[in-house]
Amino acid sequence: MIVEGGRPLEGEIHTAGAKNAVLPMMAGALLGRGRVHLRGAPKLRDVRFMTSLLRDLGAPTEQAANGDLEIDASGDLSSRAPYDTVRRMRASICVLGPLLARQGRVEVSQPGGCVFGLRPIDVHIRGLRALGADISLENGNIQAKVPPGGLRGARMYLGSAFGSTVLGTANVLMAATLAKGMTQIQGAACEPEIVALADQLNAMGARITGHGSPIIEIEGVDELGGAEVDVIPDRIEAGTYALMGAMTGGRVRVTGCRPDHLLILLDMMSSAGLPFEVGPDWIETQARDPREAPVRSTDVSTNVYPGFPTDLQAQWMALMTQADGISLISERIYPERWTHIPELMRLGADIRRQNNAAVVRGVDRLSGAPVMASDLRASAALVMAGLVADGRTEVRRMYHLERGYEAMEQRLEAIGAGVMMVEEDE
Ligand code: EPU
Repeated sequence: MIVEGGRPLEGEIHTAGAKNAVLPMMAGALLGRGRVHLRGAPKLRDVRFMTSLLRDLGAPTEQAANGDLEIDASGDLSSRAPYDTVRRMRASICVLGPLLARQGRVEVSQPGGCVFGLRPIDVHIRGLRALGADISLENGNIQAKVPPGGLRGARMYLGSAFGSTVLGTANVLMAATLAKGMTQIQGAACEPEIVALADQLNAMGARITGHGSPIIEIEGVDELGGAEVDVIPDRIEAGTYALMGAMTGGRVRVTGCRPDHLLILLDMMSSAGLPFEVGPDWIETQARDPREAPVRSTDVSTNVYPGFPTDLQAQWMALMTQADGISLISERIYPERWTHIPELMRLGADIRRQNNAAVVRGVDRLSGAPVMASDLRASAALVMAGLVADGRTEVRRMYHLERGYEAMEQRLEAIGAGVMMVEEDE
């Protein structure tokens, strides 16, 4: 993406459905002997990966032009998710719980690490074992089967050294819907994406309570069916566009979002002196002249929900390169999630990293340069920096961005950004 910096954004952007909600919801559809219709799913590369995984598993899946997904898991399913699919998208791991519960056995390739760290799945496995599953790790595969008589409800603690796990909670929650008896998950992830998944499973016939809190209870049922549910708006996408508006000093209204899912971001934006207004389903950044009202340096520390999302850490750092002082950014979820730092420095940012924290000293100006994206949120941060840099920034490897932001180029262009997508010749 070629970004010509220096234009304040102005206009409206409508929030798409949440990537991190729809991926586990698609996996959850495998539990039901019926059709699951997910309204308002985003059209993203990761959704296409998951669509092809579900098809490979024997569940015909279609995405309509408006994004709606229709998944039919009523027929016979396969129990194998091979390496070729799983390596492309870590979220494929969330077919583990549903396939185990529905099929009685499953073989899923073990996902590897990613550019920002190890990303283990030990907690997923611990939780499924607590339900009685017999799990072995062989030849790079996770092989799991249910005990004689099926999975049994259990009480368990599901935290990791970093707090709770989102997809770990999703996996155990999904498996427990078909276990015998009651399951209680303590230390469950409280993210809105988990609430959305539990709501979908309940619509399919599950009996889940407490979702949204750290203690979730699941009363097992014999069978789940189909359902029709909405995908929640993407809080990370909404937050990214709000930060882009604020960064450029423009007036950008992000509609169709859930401000209540972004309270900490709004709080941090206030601390940073960024004016905005909020309605029931929109956030609007207000015009600001960055020379007269510079961004105030504001420390953040990422945390599990409702703390500051790690998925907005890179974007916050891009913003802090424009601050009037020094800010400290601490990463408590993925201590290695810093691939954007050297690239932001190529644009003139002054950043020093030590262990799981980065010190950002605001600079007068960034200057456009070629930079390389190496993960989804890092890409968004680089585009953001490009929007205020002098001259032209080329962000390479934009395919990362397409995994999680629907049509960013068109949407930014529509609100006045100078952006253009060109083919990369490498
Ligand atoms: N962890 C363990 N053991 C486990 C699982 C996790 O130690 O078995 C650790 C992780 O290494 C990490 C922490 O626990 O330090 C939290 O990881 P979590 O399991 O919550 O992450 P995830 O469920 O794999 C989802 C999102 C990520 C997002 C994180 C944190 C999806 C598809 N992915 O991943 O999204 O950063 O939660 O909120 O939902 C993104 O969209 O860019 C993205 C990376």
